[in-house]
Amino acid sequence: MNFPIRNRSQALYVETYGCQMNKSDSELIVGLLTRDGYRLVDDVSRADVILVNTCAIREHAETRVLGRMAELNHLKASNPDLILGLCGCMSQHLGENILDKAPYIDLVVGPDGYRRLPEMIRSLDQNREPALSLALDKTEHYLALDPVREPGVNAWVTIMRGCDKFCTFCIVPYVRGRERSTPHQEILRQVERLAAEGYREVTLLGQTVNAYQDGAIDFAGLLQMVADVDGIERVRFTAPHPSHFSDRLIDVMADHPRVCKHAHLPLQSGSTRILRAMRRDYTAEEYVALVSNLRTRIPGLALTTDIIVGFCGESEEDFQATYDLMAAVRFDSAFMFKYSPREGTAAYRKLADDVPEGEKSRRLTAIIDRQKAISEERNRAYIGRMVEVLVEGESKRDADHLFGKTDTFKTVVFPKTAGVRAQTLVPVHIDRATAFTLFGTSRR
Ligand code: 5AD
Ligand code: SF4
Repeated sequence: MNFPIRNRSQALYVETYGCQMNKSDSELIVGLLTRDGYRLVDDVSRADVILVNTCAIREHAETRVLGRMAELNHLKASNPDLILGLCGCMSQHLGENILDKAPYIDLVVGPDGYRRLPEMIRSLDQNREPALSLALDKTEHYLALDPVREPGVNAWVTIMRGCDKFCTFCIVPYVRGRERSTPHQEILRQVERLAAEGYREVTLLGQTVNAYQDGAIDFAGLLQMVADVDGIERVRFTAPHPSHFSDRLIDVMADHPRVCKHAHLPLQSGSTRILRAMRRDYTAEEYVALVSNLRTRIPGLALTTDIIVGFCGESEEDFQATYDLMAAVRFDSAFMFKYSPREGTAAYRKLADDVPEGEKSRRLTAIIDRQKAISEERNRAYIGRMVEVLVEGESKRDADHLFGKTDTFKTVVFPKTAGVRAQTLVPVHIDRATAFTLFGTSRR
């Protein structure tokens, strides 16, 4: 059966799940398709093409998206020409098997296939068989795919992709492929343009961002160059790997006033035995030593982390080591997860998922409670202090208030004041704090 050739200005709707890298990739997809004549809409019911950019990191993420795809499929009843595409990590993970579960999906596109999207959508006009693009391509550097970003204070800039670490629990190296760094000239070109467009902050993104290497330029060198770009007030980066935190990187963080005093440093476990089983290449002692070095050399540094509980073979003693390490290090905040076995990973193939679900939940609740108390204490230490806030806009909860972030990545909410605008740095006096937010009064 032939379908009508799509006229230009088809309506495109993009929905994103997962990490910041996915949000940044969705901006690339929107850039690619709007240059091809599509128009972005924010009402899904008006779309001709719906793309869902997905995450495969834990099973729960995939289950949620499958439910959402089934829901979106209902829109085909009133619009039979509607194209429904699955993009990103889940496409790469499940491959064409996804079509057994959701045969109504028209496009299945892995992270290295985005460049082909316009051509794939056009092919559907001729032939309504599902189109797949699932090859990982280590020569795909995503060059000249200028993203269309949401306006705002912060812009994400992907500087490296993929991962060569192969932590035993993690699906990322399988769905995102090998490590690749973007040439530094391309990154600087993007950052200079962002500054000219009015963005005040950039966040450099990569799966192991500090493993960046472009010839002689390593991550510390790149960070220095990006922070030197005129017009950019703040530079952040995520997520670094503890094993690539060089002394030079610590020096740049300590010395450059525009590099934010915040490190997101995934711990995963406080037990060296479990870290070894996870194939993390540091011990708990080395992690603690790194934190102490960072805190000595970067006073006021905020530290956040990722922790997994209930990994294969995690005993009560191993869990206790994580729980104790949290009290010793006192992170500002943490993302905490129950281990979720991912098909294809080394842990899935070789290790037993032997911590019962109920026990995983108990351990997760215990660390969440501990972290909440620590976050609250650390935030309360800001009470009475002046902080510099980069204002993002109106508070989502209260139209009389503005919100923004400190360079330590704390969200600050304060009453609107004459002359204080989004996109500017303002001094704010902190009066009150919860585990998640600081509240204050602007002093301008
Ligand atoms: N199960 C649970 N958490 C995971 N993460 C990665 N893979 C898994 C998994 N299989 C967590 C890690 C990582 C964060 C992005 O997600 O903590 O740092
Ligand atoms: Fe996954 Fe480990 Fe690579 Fe991070 S470093 S993306 S946890 S394999």
